Amino acid sequence: MPYAMGEYYEQVNDYDLEYQSQSEQDLPFWRELVMRYTPSRVLELACGSGRIGLELLHAPGNFVLEGLDIEQGMLDAYQRKLAREPEEIQQRAILHHGDMCDYDLEHKGQFDLIFLPFNSICHLYEIEQQLCAFRTTYEHLAPGGHFVVDTFLPDIDYLSDALNRPSTVYLEDEIESPDGEFTMLLYTTRKYDPHEQLQHITWTHEKFFESGENERYLSKLDMHLFFPRELQMLFISTGFSVEAIYGDYLWKPFGKGSRQIVVGRKPKHN
Ligand SMILES: C[S@@+](CC[C@H](N)C(=O)[O-])C[C@H]1O[C@@H](n2cnc3c(N)ncnc32)[C@H](O)[C@@H]1O
Repeated sequence: MPYAMGEYYEQVNDYDLEYQSQSEQDLPFWRELVMRYTPSRVLELACGSGRIGLELLHAPGNFVLEGLDIEQGMLDAYQRKLAREPEEIQQRAILHHGDMCDYDLEHKGQFDLIFLPFNSICHLYEIEQQLCAFRTTYEHLAPGGHFVVDTFLPDIDYLSDALNRPSTVYLEDEIESPDGEFTMLLYTTRKYDPHEQLQHITWTHEKFFESGENERYLSKLDMHLFFPRELQMLFISTGFSVEAIYGDYLWKPFGKGSRQIVVGRKPKHN
């Protein structure tokens, strides 16, 4: 089955603008995580345009940070941002174009921390893809290394609404461009397929320019929804132990928040 994804991530500048507010929420969590684990080599799967990675490179610690993404446009934007960083930061970052279901990096077996943040796991649509991504990640970790996955908890009310036709239109955000050139309104409609556990989202980006002109485009994005036991089962069935699960970015226990942040661990000894 073909899944919709690429067109949404091709608009990298709009992506960056759209998720600035997400950074206020999740960046402190990821910074704290690297401070607690003190890794030497870290890999961010589905690293996008470097929203999280660039911030982590400024966190305490001298780890090497690798990033992997399937969208070349996202990686190009990350690389352009890296080029504006001091030399010592640039030297600690390595970017790879690849698929998280099937990657093979030079430092396989040497990563102390691999993380898959901000719902990106929802782009693993087929069970085989999910298992391959987890197995490959397991192989890339050093003994005792951590694999941390962050995704939202499926919301039953929201999903049941997404079964209705016509579906509700949500105004997701209203964002001013930094130079004041335009205001961007973001709308979504959602359709939920309960058998495939797939959420089909149609995004509308509408920009109102100071000049009086406006611009609008549609993009489609499919997301697989992970129910908690399913996600934990993926960890366990691929050899990880589940060391902790947090319910939000403030380290609340699982069940007290609207997220599932699962910390898996590869055993220290086989
Ligand atoms: C929600 S964005 C997250 C980007 C970044 N981690 C952040 O938090 O801003 C999801 C990213 O997953 C990437 N992606 C989707 N499927 C992928 C795959 N199979 N392998 C690698 N990257 C993938 C997309 O290109 C996109 O950059």
